[in-house]
This record gives sequence, C-alpha cells and structure tokens, in this order.
Amino acid sequence: MDAVAEQKYNFDVVRWFAVMAAVYLVVGASAGVYIASELAWPVLNFDIPYITFGRLRPLHTNAVIFAFGGCVLMASAFYSVQRTCGTRLWSDKMAWFTFWGWNLIIVAAVITLPLGINQSKEYAELEWPIDIAIAVVWLSYLFNFIMTIANRKSSHIYVSNWFFLGMMVMITYLHVVNSLAVPVDMFKSYSLFAGVQDAMIQWWWGHNAVGFYLTAGFLGIMYYFVPKQAGRPVYSYRLSVIHFWALMFGYVWLGAHHLQYTALPDWTGSLGAAVSIGMIIPSWGGAVNGMMTLSGAWDKLRTDYVLRFLIMSLAFYAMSTFEGPVMSIKTVNALSHYTDWTVGHVHSGALGWVAMVGIGAIYHMMTRTFHTEMWSEKLINAHFWTATIGTVVYVVAMWVSGIMQGLMWRAYDDYGTLAYTFAESVEAMHPYYAMRAVGGMIFLLGAVLMLVNILMTVSKASREGSIQAARTAAV
Ligand code: HEM
Ligand code: HEM
Repeated sequence: MDAVAEQKYNFDVVRWFAVMAAVYLVVGASAGVYIASELAWPVLNFDIPYITFGRLRPLHTNAVIFAFGGCVLMASAFYSVQRTCGTRLWSDKMAWFTFWGWNLIIVAAVITLPLGINQSKEYAELEWPIDIAIAVVWLSYLFNFIMTIANRKSSHIYVSNWFFLGMMVMITYLHVVNSLAVPVDMFKSYSLFAGVQDAMIQWWWGHNAVGFYLTAGFLGIMYYFVPKQAGRPVYSYRLSVIHFWALMFGYVWLGAHHLQYTALPDWTGSLGAAVSIGMIIPSWGGAVNGMMTLSGAWDKLRTDYVLRFLIMSLAFYAMSTFEGPVMSIKTVNALSHYTDWTVGHVHSGALGWVAMVGIGAIYHMMTRTFHTEMWSEKLINAHFWTATIGTVVYVVAMWVSGIMQGLMWRAYDDYGTLAYTFAESVEAMHPYYAMRAVGGMIFLLGAVLMLVNILMTVSKASREGSIQAARTAAV
C-alpha cells in the first residue's frame, strides 16, 4: 500500500513541509524562551534594538503561528486531502509554489520584524508587500486544495476536509480585509480603518486567527489523524458535522470579547461574551468526539506515544475552550484583561492544543511518507513528557501571576487609595516569570529532541533507500 501511495500521491511536498514545521517549532520556541527570559531578566535586552522584547515578541508569535503552524497545516492538509479523496494533489507545481512562497514570507518576517518594520496590528504585523504575498500564496494553497477535492475518487468529502476548507476560506477574507492599508513607501503603510473601527476589525481578525487558523484548521488535523492513529472510525460522524457548522457560524461573532470596557458600544462586548459562552458546546462536542474515538482502544495509549500527543492535545483543547468563555464574561474579564492570565490561556491553547496535535500529526506523517519507523521511539516518549511538563509549568506560572496581578491592581487600602504601586506588582511577578522561562526551556528541549529524531529518521530513510524502494515497487 505504501509503495502504491508513493506513486499515486505527491508526498514530496508533504515531507518538506513536515520537516520545516519541526525546524520552525525549535526557532519559534527559542524566541519564546528568549523573550520570556527578557521579561524575567531585562538585562538580556543588552540595549540592542534588534533583540529587545518589543521586536522579538512579534517574531515569536509569527514564527510559532505562521511558520510552525502554517507548515503543519499545509503538510497535514496536503497529506490528508490526497488520502481521503484517493487522488493526487491537483497541481504539483502549485504545491511547490506554496512551499517556497510560504518559506520566503517567513524569511521576510525574520528580516523585517527585528528591524522594527511593523504595522502594529497583532498577528498581522507584516508590512503591506508581505501581506500581498501572503494573500497570493494562501490562495494557491486554497485553490490546489479545492481542485484536489473536485478531482476526488471518493463519493463524499470527509469531515477533516470541511474543517481545512472552512479555515482556508475564512482566513482569506479575514486577512485581506484586516490588511487593507494605504502604503506610504515600501516599508510603511497606514490602516484603512481608524479608531474604534480599526480596533473592531483588528479583533475580528485576531480572534478568528485563533478560531479558524489555530482551531478549525487544527480540528481538521484532529479529525484525520486521531482516527488514523487509533485505527478506529471517528466516534460520531454526525457530531462532527454539527461541530463544524456550529464553529463556522459561532466564531465570527466573538472578536469583541477582546475589547470589553473600551470605546466599543457596550452591546458588542455583551454579544461577544454571550456567543463565547455558547461556544463551549461545539468545542466540547469536538473534544469529546475525538476522545471517544478511542473507546475500546484506550490501552493503545500505553504503547503508542504519538497517540498520547493527540489525546493530550484534546484535553488541553477542552480546558482552554472552557477557560476562554469564562474569561469573556465582563466581570471575569475585568480581572483577567491586561494580565498574564490571558498569556496563560493563550499558551494552554497554543502549547497544549495547537503544538501537541501538530506534533502528533508530524510524527504520523514522518513514518507514512518516509516509509520507515522513527529513528527512536524512546525520544518520542521523552518529547511527550517534556512537552507536557513544560506546558503545565508555563501555564500554572501564568495563572498565578495573572490572578495576582489583577488582584494587586484593584486592591485598595482603608483610605481608598491603591494598595500597591504598579512597580510593586512588576516586582511580585519576577518568580513566576523565571518559572515560565524554565517551563519554556523544558518545552523547547522536547522540540529539539523531535528535530533530532526527525533528522535522524530522514538520514535513516535515505540510507535504507525506503522512499526509492517504495517508488520502484510501485512501478
Ligand atoms: C517554549 C515555548 C514558548 C515560550 C517560552 C513562549 C513565551 C512567550 C512569551 C514570553 C510571550 C509574551 C507574553 C507577554 O507579552 O507578556 C508569548 C506570547 C505569545 N505566544 Fe508564546 N511561547 C512559547 C510557545 C508558543 C507557541 C508554540 C505558540 C503557538 C502555537 C505561542 C503563541 C503565542 C502567542 C499567540 C502570544 C501572544 C499572546 C498575547 O498577546 O496575549 N507561543 N509567548
Ligand atoms: C471557545 C473558545 C475560546 C474562547 C471563547 C476564548 C476567549 C478568549 C478571551 C475572552 C480572551 C481574552 C481577551 C482579553 O481579555 O484580551 C482570549 C485570548 C486569547 N485566546 Fe482564547 N478563547 C477560546 C479558545 C482559545 C484557543 C483554543 C486558543 C488556541 C490557541 C486561544 C487563543 C487565544 C489567544 C492567542 C488570545 C490572546 C489574544 C491577544 O490578546 O493577543 N483561545 N480568548
């Protein structure tokens, strides 16, 4: 079967995207550890503008979300669409255009962000020429995906493809609308929107980068890779379809929960909060659907390390999609907003859900597309524990520091004056910032182990000639 698959499908581009995803996880997590350390020990800024927290922070978010996350999404969508549709990618050339285009955009980000070339819109920092390149490359990804589905040999479209497609379509128009700007020169532009409209558009994009890119796309991964790795059909196909439509219609209304107590009309924040709370239902529906796919096969978790990543990711997905709706409630947000609680929430979703499910998918694709076992099973297990422990240490540190910050900022003494100065709250954060940096280092260690394991597997596959053997066997 593998030999046939090697001839029938385009695995080359999948292999490259998967390996690059592992490289970018190490790069993005290293930047994360560095900026976390800068917050704990500011001397690390060294008064060098290019490596200050303000410049490296967007480099971190772009590296983990768009470089790592993007390569995982592209590898897994291109892999699973071929498998589920029983057909080759519509265009090999276009797939390579997507690969090289995306990587060039990442290089452009690595150069421009440390130089301070930045639109100052979160998760949309890159300047207008790069924004145009993103739109073009993204459309090539979308078009190739749609055409592959159109050429499918199977009668129906498997649910993972719905999630990928939903993500691709939504991200196209969110990115284009949010990036509308008036260029001044090659490196500077001004947003077409101003004031409150700008804030609203920014968080309509910002939350949907979370809702579609980091959630719907990664749910596409979950719906293909969890059943495949577990060797069982998805628990409830009907639930997955309801899950899909509820997510598509729900997420677009949530952006205003990032802007509670601002100049936005009050009702928009209330609407955002109400829909956010409702989102617990589809989110948990999806998490339960993924976990129950293992019913009757739970024992596999004892031996299958890749499955462990996938199931742990669902636990974090359930946790962060409970926490998010709670944080959107105005009274809770009054405490959590501007504090590290938000950062803790972000990373329980980002490390626990996005990275873990992505890592599970990368390991799965490595063995299937290189036609060999991973170089070391033990290293996968070590990676699992470092990723889990690192995430827990990070998130716990941020929960404690965030809630402490919120409480210190609102504490009054008997005379009605603030009990603490801002500087005192900053000082109180130090141990937790150090703890977060340590958690990040543990997580990073796991990412390095994965990269080593992957590079050794690639060299093992080339020594064994397994890809060539699969190709020849199929002729
Ligand atoms: C070694 C692992 C990581 C470390 C140490 C780390 C550290 C950090 C730090 C220090 C910040 C800035 C927080 C602040 O401004 O106060 C940050 C922001 C952020 N990181 Fe990470 N990070 C890691 C991995 C990741 C991964 C894998 C993702 C996504 C898949 C991610 C997504 C984000 C996002 C979205 C933000 C912005 C959060 C916000 O604006 O509230 N991080 N990270
Ligand atoms: C139903 C699900 C979810 C809801 C309702 C939700 C809600 C929220 C809320 C209320 C905030 C804080 C806004 C603020 O005070 O500024 C927030 C921040 C954030 N959440 Fe979630 N969340 C959900 C799931 C997730 C997941 C699964 C991730 C995965 C990565 C995630 C990533 C983020 C990020 C990156 C931010 C920080 C944005 C920023 O300020 O830069 N969320 N979310």
